[in-house]
Amino acid sequence: MRSRFGIRLFSAGGFDNRSLLNAILLLDASAFPDDRLAFLRSMTRLHTMVAAGALAVLALSGCRSVSPPDAAETAPRTAPGGQRQESVRAAPGRPAAARPARDRYREVQVDEPVVAITFDDGPNPRQTPLLLDILKERGIRATFFVVGRSAAAHPAILQRMVAEGHEVANHTWDHATLGEAGSDETRRQILMTNEAIRAAVGKGPVLIRPPYGRTNPTLDRWMARELGLTVVLWSVDSSDWKHRDPIRVQAEIVRAAKPGSIILAHDIHATTVSAMPATLDQLQARGFRFLTVSELIARDRSPRIGQ
Ligand code: NI
Repeated sequence: MRSRFGIRLFSAGGFDNRSLLNAILLLDASAFPDDRLAFLRSMTRLHTMVAAGALAVLALSGCRSVSPPDAAETAPRTAPGGQRQESVRAAPGRPAAARPARDRYREVQVDEPVVAITFDDGPNPRQTPLLLDILKERGIRATFFVVGRSAAAHPAILQRMVAEGHEVANHTWDHATLGEAGSDETRRQILMTNEAIRAAVGKGPVLIRPPYGRTNPTLDRWMARELGLTVVLWSVDSSDWKHRDPIRVQAEIVRAAKPGSIILAHDIHATTVSAMPATLDQLQARGFRFLTVSELIARDRSPRIGQ
């Protein structure tokens, strides 16, 4: 019994209050003979004193009890193709108070008929300007999850997006499947894209959509805490990349949209862009208003979690 407490209290992770509490609760709940109980209680008091002393030393030396994921300080200095570039500093991240309630959104809980329409994989020099014309005619603002490589090639399209009230967000450098939180490649994909957006429009993004929606809670948390990026997936999938049929794009979106929906489409397909006038007109006729994803998240009425 003693050795078990000893192992629990002095385990590799250091001292922790929960093990201590468990040990005390176990002692109180046990029906030991009085002398053994007294001995164990005195051992627990001794452990408490040693643990408190050790915690004080750790606190004074500035140790943290839980190691964060590998912090993203800089991106690699070599761009794809071997081109040298300046090191990219990580975004400082939003202060905790300004962070959304969640690290990841598929849709947003709202009380009003508002939705966000999002376009991935651009900017595309042919299709994106046509789409921007369609949105402008209707006074609709959207969110563009851009691929960093294309953003760097077409900064003027990003500038037009921002000038017309749209939100520009991160969709990795070359549409990579993101890997482990803090890994060199994940960091490079994200930070180079942040930098391409910042270079074009003077301000980095606050949202990211991992390609194929492939992410996990550890990655979400790392992106939120270390990079100040909230993960945005979708609740309405137009499947436009698959069927390339304007009638189906329109039908899928109009059928599935509800208050708080985040709608997924791609501004690299002519069929998607040609579906938009009728799609947007029908949604507006049904009373929906369009917000950028950040505006929609700002209206989130769900309780705060994951903080
Ligand atoms: Ni994509």
